Amino acid sequence: MKQKLIAAARDAAKNAYCKYSNYRVGAALLAEDGSIWLGCNVENSSFGATNCAERTAVFSAIAAGKHKFSAIAIVGGSDENPATPCGICRQVLAEFCPPDMPVYFAGLEGGDISTTTIGELLPLAFSGAKL
Ligand code: THU
Repeated sequence: MKQKLIAAARDAAKNAYCKYSNYRVGAALLAEDGSIWLGCNVENSSFGATNCAERTAVFSAIAAGKHKFSAIAIVGGSDENPATPCGICRQVLAEFCPPDMPVYFAGLEGGDISTTTIGELLPLAFSGAKL
């Protein structure tokens, strides 16, 4: 599944709209029912309106009614310096994904796949009031 998710993330990266940074990122989020939700970064001339690949994938899945996830793959950057989720994406992932959920990441063109977890990416995540 790790390889399949990374391949899906690589496909998604092809759709990145990254005319300002020229930094292509793709994400593939595995829902508990086996469905895979893709994301790419979508930039904007007002830079702060940019949406990262990870959040695009999470928001697509949520919009389709999926709420339980079991893994995510992210591709971007190089084999030596692969993309890892930004702070905002870590918080968004922590909202919907369990702390022990695997996060796979690799460079855009291939090379080693590294594995971490949501909890390692954002320890002591803020979760607000327990509603
Ligand atoms: N970006 C992502 O999509 N995900 C990451 O994990 C890191 C950064 C995007 C945002 C922006 O479009 C470009 O990469 C450069 O920061």
